[in-house]
Amino acid sequence: MSRIFSGIQSTGNLHLGNYLGAVRNWVQLQDDYECIFCVVDMHAITVWQDPAALKASTREVAAAMIASGVDAKKHIIFNQSQVSGHAELAWIFNCVARLGWLNRMTQFKDKAGKNKENASVGLYAYPNLMAADILLYKATHVPVGEDQKQHLELARDIAAKFNHDYGVEDFFPQPEPMIFGAATRVMSLKDGTKKMSKSDPSELSRITMTDDADTIAKKIRKAKTDTEPLPETKDGMEGRPEVSNLLGIYAALSDVSLEDTIAKFAGKGFGDFKKDLADVAVEKLGPIQDEMRRLMDDQAYVDSVLRDGAERARAISEPILAEIKDTVGFLRP
Ligand code: AMP
Ligand code: TRP
Repeated sequence: MSRIFSGIQSTGNLHLGNYLGAVRNWVQLQDDYECIFCVVDMHAITVWQDPAALKASTREVAAAMIASGVDAKKHIIFNQSQVSGHAELAWIFNCVARLGWLNRMTQFKDKAGKNKENASVGLYAYPNLMAADILLYKATHVPVGEDQKQHLELARDIAAKFNHDYGVEDFFPQPEPMIFGAATRVMSLKDGTKKMSKSDPSELSRITMTDDADTIAKKIRKAKTDTEPLPETKDGMEGRPEVSNLLGIYAALSDVSLEDTIAKFAGKGFGDFKKDLADVAVEKLGPIQDEMRRLMDDQAYVDSVLRDGAERARAISEPILAEIKDTVGFLRP
């Protein structure tokens, strides 16, 4: 069976983009693949995280995965730092990947901003750790949002270079990105040209998985739009990024095609549309949020899921890591 690996950082503010771009797709894939889902706390600390908040976010992300319907018994949910193989393989990949490859990564440029000299070395090497996450399990498929495409291409390059340099053809597979659904790139509610992100300083830019119904409705009401009525056709979305984003979110949440969504609201004003959008968001997210809250109150259970998941992740990865170390020439007498 093909193996899936995917991850979410425990950086707080888990949002609608994470749900529609990633977690919801994972739930749909779990009947057909063996899945490993990881809360990547080691990726999170590439930018400063308050230690207590990091622990809380790790539990929150795990709770969101479970509440969304990931089956933690059949599949694996764990946090990255519990399986030391991730860090070990990342070091080997630091020695495989080339500076020139990492210099092309747009996410580093975005996250490091103007003051590149002051970014952590971890933020720069982050894609190597991501490649290690996937290849430590020889995962073949990686369901993610659109923004991770470039990192996955790098993981494929690292896999190919390792296989080539060590003369072990086909040792690492070429992991396939799986980017699908009506909302592979959910944009900020305040600026349709920027992706919805955990780190946007404006709370109004994102709907988080912990927002209550009133907050969701308020954020949608305040979402940026324009003064024209809703478009009649797909072409009518041209040059209207905020409108395209809201229509895409509606389509994804209500499980209807973008075409049908456009037809439903064609020519209408934003007042009615926003009300419907808020209703569908609350209807779809509400039950998941209730379950998340319940799980957050049961810390012992969430921790036991992570512990058990880490144990099973170790069992899969240890023989692979042993083979990698032998291939590289590390002596293990
Ligand atoms: P992160 O929060 O950066 O750890 O992202 C976790 C997952 O959510 C990855 O698969 C991302 O591609 C996905 N994701 C993050 N932001 C968005 C967004 N605005 N739209 C769609 N998917 C997203
Ligand atoms: N870099 C991803 C993000 O920020 C998270 C991630 C880490 C990941 N390791 C991964 C995603 C492995 C898929 C596979 O969204």
